[in-house]
Amino acid sequence: NRRQFIALGTASMGTALVGNWLYQEKKSSQPKPLSSANLTPVYQSSNGLLELDLEARESLVNLGGQQASLLTYNGQIPAPRLEAKPGDTVRIHFTNNLEQPTNIHYHGLHIPLVGNADNVFLKIEPGKQLTYEFQIASNHPSGTFWYHPHLHGLVAEQLFGGLAGMFIVRGELDEIPELKAAQEEFLVLQDFSLDNRGKRADSAHMSLMMGREGDIIAVNGQANPSINLLKGGLLRLRILNASPSRFYRLALEDSAFYQIATDGNSFSEPIEVNELLLTPGQRTDVLVKASQESGQYRLLNLPYDRGSIGMMGGGMMGRRNNSDTPIVLAKINYKSTVESLTLPTKLAPIEPLPEPQTVRRFELNHGMNPAVGMAFLINGEPYDRDRLHTQVQLNTIEDWELINIGVMDHPFHIHGNAFQVISRNGIPELLLAWRDTVLVKRGERVRIRMPFRDFAGKTVYHCHVLDHEDLGMMGNLMISA
Ligand code: C2O
Ligand code: CU
Repeated sequence: NRRQFIALGTASMGTALVGNWLYQEKKSSQPKPLSSANLTPVYQSSNGLLELDLEARESLVNLGGQQASLLTYNGQIPAPRLEAKPGDTVRIHFTNNLEQPTNIHYHGLHIPLVGNADNVFLKIEPGKQLTYEFQIASNHPSGTFWYHPHLHGLVAEQLFGGLAGMFIVRGELDEIPELKAAQEEFLVLQDFSLDNRGKRADSAHMSLMMGREGDIIAVNGQANPSINLLKGGLLRLRILNASPSRFYRLALEDSAFYQIATDGNSFSEPIEVNELLLTPGQRTDVLVKASQESGQYRLLNLPYDRGSIGMMGGGMMGRRNNSDTPIVLAKINYKSTVESLTLPTKLAPIEPLPEPQTVRRFELNHGMNPAVGMAFLINGEPYDRDRLHTQVQLNTIEDWELINIGVMDHPFHIHGNAFQVISRNGIPELLLAWRDTVLVKRGERVRIRMPFRDFAGKTVYHCHVLDHEDLGMMGNLMISA
């Protein structure tokens, strides 16, 4: 079966420009890819500099065996993986060859929010170029971050076209011996909707209120890829939900995950979990221990109901997120033996934050707004690019109460600074973790605590169901020095 063969070799590839699993034939005797269309290059920094050319353009790609015309960075689905270390300078010479304006957001990175860094107010017109340049601080956490377009009104459409890639910061965490010994793989989850000529489906036919979802689910641009692992081996899977609206509820058949990190930051120690709910924007970093017998684990996507609009505004029907049967996203095969690898016991310590200076409330809902009609609202208002919705002081700590009074789940994302979840519906959250995107389920009240550190300037917070964001569920945040 053409769609299912792709095999993986060992991880821990060397230096400079190396490939992901499809490039592995250079180092091992794994099967060759059937098509070069899905090669995902990796750009790694050297001598403190990560520098590359990045071009956004529509390209013909091989998407899980079928030809598709998608929006790409450098012709790749997913986009090239970028890897830098704390202390490195990043310089990206970006060209916009799309037919619309765009820009780039570096999701989860703690870097400057203004100038040519993580500035989502930049607008790069078709045919224009811009060089992004920023430094990753020497104390930046190691983690799995990502990049994608962020021009308000076009974010969902451009992401759904395929524009998304991982941005890895390799640091201390990755030096832990057990993690170094593990086989590392990266899974970028995306969904697409194509017509019978391989063109992107017209958004006029999609439920933008629910958030667009495609019927094709791709893992690294492939349909159910396979990962080959050694018996007794340890697999480190870094997973990104790069879909604009689809939630993934992940489980392994016959095995648990050992989660070591959320969005961009590790836990203090691995935590055994049977399921991972990954909302749009979120990442997870998990270990999988292969048994000593040979066999296969299937990575499943289980059904999840993220709420629906039901009957409203003239009988618009919501729909369920996933079908009722689990979807196999990938297969993990384990065969030849290695001596059994062990899990790490300690990762990076996390300190709880001191009490906040300020507490704010954010009510999330959809509804009618006199100015714009049906919209997604924060505190009753849709996004207005000319307003400063929230003003905070640099070097302070705030609690934000996120209250979902609507009928759909909203994953809430804040740019530039990570936060800790303090409680859900008043019940203290026991797991200490840093996140940049948190799910606020319908009817739920989530309290988060956030230090505003290092970078002043204007940025945004929003729902990461990107149609909700484009339809108004976003606010401007001014961090004043
Ligand atoms: Cu990944 Cu403001 O977004
Ligand atoms: Cu939402």
